[in-house]
Amino acid sequence: MCGIIGYCGHRPAVPLVLEGLSRLEYRGYDSAGLAYLQFDTLKVIRSEGKLSRLVDKVAQNANTFAPIGIGHTRWATHGLPVEKNAHPHKSYNGVLAIVHNGIIENFQEIKNVLLEKGYEFYSDTDTEVLANLIADELDNLFLEKFAHKFSDDRDFFVKKAQENFQEFKADMEEAFCRALQKAHGAYAVVMLSPLIPQHIMAARLAAPLLMGIGVGEYFVASDVPAFLPYTREVVFLDDREVAIVSTSSFEVKNILSRKIIEKEIHHIPWDLQGAAKDGYKHFMLKEIMEQPKVLRDCLVGRLQNTDILLPELDKISIPERIRIIACGTSYNAGLWAQYYLEQLGQIPVSVEIASEFRYRKPIVSKNELIIVISQSGETADTLGALRLCKELGNTVLGVCNVLGSSVAREADVCVYTQAGPEISVASTKAMLSQMVVLLLLAMYLGQRKNIGLEKRKIIIEELMRLPDILEKTLPVLREKAQIFAYKYTFAKSFFYLGRGTAFSLALEGALKLKELSYIHAEGYATGEMKHGPIALIDPDFPTFALLFDDEYFSKVRSGILEVKSRQGHVITLLQEGTTLDNDDLWYIPKTSLPEFLALPAMQLFSYEMADYLGKDVDQPRNLAKSVTVE
Ligand code: AGP
Repeated sequence: MCGIIGYCGHRPAVPLVLEGLSRLEYRGYDSAGLAYLQFDTLKVIRSEGKLSRLVDKVAQNANTFAPIGIGHTRWATHGLPVEKNAHPHKSYNGVLAIVHNGIIENFQEIKNVLLEKGYEFYSDTDTEVLANLIADELDNLFLEKFAHKFSDDRDFFVKKAQENFQEFKADMEEAFCRALQKAHGAYAVVMLSPLIPQHIMAARLAAPLLMGIGVGEYFVASDVPAFLPYTREVVFLDDREVAIVSTSSFEVKNILSRKIIEKEIHHIPWDLQGAAKDGYKHFMLKEIMEQPKVLRDCLVGRLQNTDILLPELDKISIPERIRIIACGTSYNAGLWAQYYLEQLGQIPVSVEIASEFRYRKPIVSKNELIIVISQSGETADTLGALRLCKELGNTVLGVCNVLGSSVAREADVCVYTQAGPEISVASTKAMLSQMVVLLLLAMYLGQRKNIGLEKRKIIIEELMRLPDILEKTLPVLREKAQIFAYKYTFAKSFFYLGRGTAFSLALEGALKLKELSYIHAEGYATGEMKHGPIALIDPDFPTFALLFDDEYFSKVRSGILEVKSRQGHVITLLQEGTTLDNDDLWYIPKTSLPEFLALPAMQLFSYEMADYLGKDVDQPRNLAKSVTVE
């Protein structure tokens, strides 16, 4: 949660920090702020609300060419989303400012100690406590060396630092590391101080942080898009690493041993266009409309006649069972894949919500392959489950979109989903890409077990046709989505019904509608309706039903008619060549993989509904793209 950025280079930092924040705003957007050095003075500007408010405030207040700056866009964990809680947070004595993503779990204990020492706090955040803890460690070092603290004689320290900043750099680094050793929980933190005017320091533990390596400039950020216009060369920081970055070089060390670590520089293939709106009104719409390309990208290099090529998995032995673990939309993709993995791989599969799994003391057999699915690769609960499974000695396969993310690095093996950067908080193209990869995986397992060749041939043929079909169909789906969305804006609640492979899509349809338009929606297995939920049906409680031309067709049709006969309005998404006695029929072309058309249809329905109702489509209230806290 929260987006952070730091810049050290040859250009004015403030506009670059603001630009970076605008690309990180999807991570949190209830307040924002930045800090820079005006000669030897630490300046902090913060604002409640969205980034645009900070931009206005900066325009009025900061006319600066400072080449070093840090910034933050917040998703509140401690304290209300008000200006006093916005980052950066200065230490009480003004010797440093930090931005932070994560949660310092023992902040109250640390705060109590600092309060006893006379520290004062101006916010409700754990971050301000961390800032003061670093300042306290620094004062301990200063007391030993100079027999007085920073606040006793600020000018003395600033002058000394100008004469010999190397010495102060070492003290700063020591204090930073000592404080972080005392902090429990999760952090990605970037620090700025007038005592080391050409530097920033950054560190991570269980929260994403990476560096962009430019020519004569360096970035530290939560995610690659923050600096994508300036460099695609990236260093991924690992847990308990500290980066000391100047305008001309960088060094990475272990926080505990202080030993230098040689880091590899990775080239990121994403381009800026992938992270821009491309003329669409919202990122979400752009990301829905680019799904044909995503489908193609997911298949490239992975199909050869009737063979599935996933060389990353060739060393993994065929498991007796599979357990899929994920959250939100990624969980829905996992639930969808259960059907295919069991059918095509003939392996029993269970699917778990990560936050439930990890605290239940689960019984996991050694022969289970764990598949964790995560677009961001940074979801705290999913990562926690991954780590638990590794401790239990199980092999973990990550299905992940973000290159170099924690899931990608910590899983034993990772299959990338190739969706490109997904900026909109509501996940769309990522789910489609996860479905493709998981379907390929199901076929791959069948192939390794020498079963299901005929079925595989049919699916591969259909997969190859799908990008073109989807490309032609998307504009038509959008028109229909508009018509139905406008017609149903009266609804305060919605059912989404599906059976078989459509069940998980019903869950996803409901999730999209509630997160975007704040309309209450429930996804249900069609066959479960008669066991209770049907009592809710009346003319004001409409249903969105998925009726695929599969073995459940007649049963699902009966379920829909039962809803209709209780005066419920129903939008039925069905395939050409089938029919139903219903008013609001929404046809999709006939294919043996209708899920790949139904999913975008439901995404568009939620999109149009939210846009029509004037909701903030790309940044729905209370949400953040990547949930890096528990
Ligand atoms: C759905 O639109 C949300 N973005 C959310 O449910 C998301 O899928 C979930 O938080 C998991 O994220 P991940 O795939 O990055 O792990």
